[in-house]
Amino acid sequence: MHIIVTGGSSGIGLAVAKLYAARGYRVSLLARDPARLEAARAEITSLPGVDGASIRAASVDVASAAQTAEAMELCEASFGPCDILIASAGIVEPRAFDKMPASVFDEQISINFLGTANAVRAVYKGMKSRRSGRIMMISSGAALIGIFGYTAYCASKSALAGFAEALIAEAATSAVQISICFPPDTLTPQYLREISLRPREAELLMGSVRPWSAEAVAARIVRGMDQGRQRIHFGFSLTALAFFGPLIKPSLQWWFSRKTRKIFGGESGRGLADAAEHGFDND
Ligand SMILES: NC(=O)c1ccc[n+]([C@@H]2O[C@H](COP(=O)([O-])OP(=O)(O)OC[C@H]3O[C@@H](n4cnc5c(N)ncnc54)[C@H](OP(=O)(O)O)[C@@H]3O)[C@@H](O)[C@H]2O)c1
Repeated sequence: MHIIVTGGSSGIGLAVAKLYAARGYRVSLLARDPARLEAARAEITSLPGVDGASIRAASVDVASAAQTAEAMELCEASFGPCDILIASAGIVEPRAFDKMPASVFDEQISINFLGTANAVRAVYKGMKSRRSGRIMMISSGAALIGIFGYTAYCASKSALAGFAEALIAEAATSAVQISICFPPDTLTPQYLREISLRPREAELLMGSVRPWSAEAVAARIVRGMDQGRQRIHFGFSLTALAFFGPLIKPSLQWWFSRKTRKIFGGESGRGLADAAEHGFDND
């Protein structure tokens, strides 16, 4: 089996890559920074029972369709046709829309949405013609509800939900399995950076939640792939949002805007403490 993981040098992608490598599968890691890729390759190779010759790394920017297609072609030439694609490459740069330079907005759309489509495009045709293959797109809980400071990120991740849904329809007769997952806050380098940039408004409104571990998220993704699941959700709150969003969101949004008005309309510190205490749990 040959698994290609975009964003495989870090966080959720790396944790998924480790699980597949431990099964003895051939794993290709794709990301931009060659040093981080090499460190990830070495980390996976040091796992018990993993053959170093089965793990390769390729530096690529998934925002470039041409680079992605070329890198995937080289991976397939070395390790055989892609059996499973995990499209995990992604970035987040939280900032209020009016304070976000257009380039920062565009980059999140280019990498998170178009980068995933580029990766899928590079393997989908081959999978279709072989009538075999599985694709997992890593979206986010942020696809399920709009969050202050996350206009670009929410848009990129909910665009993936529409993309996956349409591709599931197209792939229905092809035996290619298309899946998407909506992870919660997960303790990764991306999360640590995101927390440091998260606007005060978002922090107050979302409350503090305990992030999942990358290993727990990866285990659920791999299990879901094994079971042929098309959509994978995490924790009670996000699962409820996914299934009952239209019912739940109006009152949540009302609560959010009331809280915003209370806090930023100059209410006392009691309002701040209150908001910090109550937020989504994403367990
Ligand atoms: N952590 C969370 O709380 C959370 C929650 C929900 C969803 N997610 C999603 O899960 C995915 C993985 O996130 P993570 O938290 O594991 O982040 P991470 O630890 O920062 O890993 C992101 C990976 O993507 C790669 N990457 C970023 N931009 C790329 C590009 N243009 N081309 C190729 N590779 C690129 C990074 O390597 P280089 O920078 O070297 O390219 C890295 O390998 C992302 O799509 C993220 O949006 C994360």
